[in-house]
Amino acid sequence: MSAAMTMPATGSVRVPLGERGYDVRIAPGLLDRAGEELAGLLPSDRLVIVTDQTMAATPHLPRLEASLAESGLKTRTVTVPAGEASKSFGVFAQLCEAVLEPGIDRKTTILALGGGVVGDLAGFAAAALLRGLPFVQVPTTLLAQVDSSVGGKTGINAQAGKNLVGAFHQPRRVLIDPTTLDTLPLRELQAGYAEVAKYGLIRDAGFFAWLEEHGQGVIGGDQAARAFAIERSCAIKAEIVGDDEFETKGGRALLNFGHTFAHAYENLTGYGNRLLHGEAVGIGMVQATELSVRAGHLPAETTDRVRRHLRELGLKTAPGEVTNQGFAADAMLTAMRRDKKASQGRITFVLLQRLGQAFTSDQVDAAVLQDLLERPV
Ligand code: NAD
Ligand code: GLY
Repeated sequence: MSAAMTMPATGSVRVPLGERGYDVRIAPGLLDRAGEELAGLLPSDRLVIVTDQTMAATPHLPRLEASLAESGLKTRTVTVPAGEASKSFGVFAQLCEAVLEPGIDRKTTILALGGGVVGDLAGFAAAALLRGLPFVQVPTTLLAQVDSSVGGKTGINAQAGKNLVGAFHQPRRVLIDPTTLDTLPLRELQAGYAEVAKYGLIRDAGFFAWLEEHGQGVIGGDQAARAFAIERSCAIKAEIVGDDEFETKGGRALLNFGHTFAHAYENLTGYGNRLLHGEAVGIGMVQATELSVRAGHLPAETTDRVRRHLRELGLKTAPGEVTNQGFAADAMLTAMRRDKKASQGRITFVLLQRLGQAFTSDQVDAAVLQDLLERPV
């Protein structure tokens, strides 16, 4: 792909999972055509929309409800509080009880309208209620549009850690309207952008070069650039999920580039507003690139290139930007060993072989890692 060109988006990506396969549709204004998209696809005309209180106060919910009603679909809307705290047993139970009103049957579709919190929570309810209800994702944050709405991971958090209770439950369709991002706070947009850059770094150097040229447009509201960046991200995720749906073959683990560091930063900052997931991923990707450099896989200038790009788009790139003292190396190591991706105390990293090609390794030299944690870039 030429870095200079914005390729026209085709508007559709197939997630190739046989009888569980589905289309991800991406188009500005799609929210107003949601009824047409779904009317012939779903097993009945009944849907329960699950959204959060912030989304319920935007124009997006009435737009969606109006479009579904125009196509003869009957909806009921259940609203949960906004924020990560809603991925809890308590809110999950309330949501299930609210959905289980008279009239619900196994053909009733659960539709998630919102960010990754609503998508994960509503998707898990869809997986569990009546042993599995049809599910549709309408993601409205950049993170949800390029990552959490595609691939079927659903779930909630436990005392023991994030996302530890869940199920794989693929949606029947994903409807992405990039214009919904117009109301998303800049900080959330920037955090989601880290996952967009991740796809270029792990799979497509040409896409990363394109982002270096057009990333400002993606953040700034250029609808064509946004649609293209979302579509390319979804296409890469669809390909990876298609090859390794249940994360048993190794391919899907590549999506965790930067995440071994990121999960530790999030753990040490309490998974709160102080450091958003995507912000942690941005810093983590710079550190993982540098780890690849120090392990001898990459030329040193690659770290500069990754860091420069993320910085230009307003992302944090160093742990010292989160806390003045950074994070103590021993606390980082303890948090990394606790991560659910660690196995028998061995920490797994996704490293870069070159820009656009990633691999996993649990053989990182302990001294190299220790040095990077003590002197992060
Ligand atoms: P979020 O769902 O909390 O959304 C962030 C904030 O933006 C919320 O306050 C929300 O109400 C608000 N919002 C959403 N859309 C908006 C819009 N268009 N306009 C204005 N405000 C809007 O956060 P997120 O970053 O989307 O998702 C984070 C969650 O996703 C985490 O729980 C994470 O574990 C999960 N996740 C899941 C997967 C997966 O594969 N299932 C992958 C990555 C992340
Ligand atoms: N967000 C990582 C995955 O879907 O596998």
